[in-house]
Amino acid sequence: MKITLSIIKADVGSIGGHLKPSAQLLQEVKRYLEEKGKGIALDFFVAHTGDDCAILFSHTRGVGNDKVHKLAWDAFVAGTNVAKKEGLYGAGQDLLKDSFSGNVRGMGPAVAEMEFEERPNEPFVMFCADKTDPGAYNLPIYLAFADPMYNSGLILSPNMAKGFKFTIMDVSYTEGDRIIELNAPEELYDIAALLRDNERFVIESIHSRETGEIAVSVSTTRLHNIAGKYTGKDDPVMLVRVQGPFPATGEALAPFNIGHYVAGFMRGSHTGPLMPVKINSSVSYFDGPPVVSALGFCVHEGKLTEPADAFDHPYWDYIRQQVSRKATEIRQQGFSGAAMLPYSELEYGGIVKKMEKLEPKFKVRK
Ligand code: F6R
Ligand code: MG
Ligand code: MG
Repeated sequence: MKITLSIIKADVGSIGGHLKPSAQLLQEVKRYLEEKGKGIALDFFVAHTGDDCAILFSHTRGVGNDKVHKLAWDAFVAGTNVAKKEGLYGAGQDLLKDSFSGNVRGMGPAVAEMEFEERPNEPFVMFCADKTDPGAYNLPIYLAFADPMYNSGLILSPNMAKGFKFTIMDVSYTEGDRIIELNAPEELYDIAALLRDNERFVIESIHSRETGEIAVSVSTTRLHNIAGKYTGKDDPVMLVRVQGPFPATGEALAPFNIGHYVAGFMRGSHTGPLMPVKINSSVSYFDGPPVVSALGFCVHEGKLTEPADAFDHPYWDYIRQQVSRKATEIRQQGFSGAAMLPYSELEYGGIVKKMEKLEPKFKVRK
């Protein structure tokens, strides 16, 4: 059976600032999907990571389907109405357009989708990150799919011997989708040369070179390219199929133990370590640190199991301690140098305005 998995996520309002959506908001999104989702999706699941509400759908309509996207959009509109009633902060924040026009891409919500022939048992992981952008997945996913130091299956399993094809998007190009396809392991250095620049080159998808099947799909939205002004960080979602011809679940999770420094954190304008968190976690310290959740599922004939919360384990408590230390350390240098993002990546216009004011005051000494 051919099925499609779609994660569609949006920040449509949260409690106490940008911390987490309210229980009533989440309840309303679920209620809407239960009522209106019949005949469109085979199954769905809703959770939040930080202030973002993510919907996972299984269906048979293929990627970019207008009915599925509209259902998600309308569920977020219903959630926004509750957010407005409750006076939540940033109600409807990520719904950037007034009315739905066929596909939520470019309208604010983030989307990661894939269509494939369902295996007899089909395990996959849904990743949701908050207070960061899609390039945050570059390093962990590169390591999980191309580095035998993290993915032992690349040397131990015959199913991954040919490696993987990376499709990488130049997200600074706004006229269309500018992509490049590169093969690991032959073109590893070219892949690394692009992926070092998390703000410009983002892994969009990965395919198995053994079977041709899709393994990874990442949301590549850049909100500041859509809205032209601050509307929140892009807070990316990602689907990763696991086991067999793909990395084992544990291999896909392993590189998240680095807690690598990513763009985002407070006002989407700082550098902070990516902390692996449990389901339905909020953010806190300095509106962060940037967080990522990982929920494992199996899907069978389109029916989803309950999630296995992959970062809910004593091992990850230890990692969270270490990442907290990294967050504290970089925060000790405040606005200076590497702690704050470069000019081009600041999500607020305050510095641009200040520079405009200061510009005429500069003098070139004779
Ligand atoms: C980052 C984020 C928050 C806000 C910050 C200020 O993605 O959402 O860090 O940028 O709380 O929010 P506003 O400008 O809404 O007062
Ligand atoms: Mg927000
Ligand atoms: Mg968010």
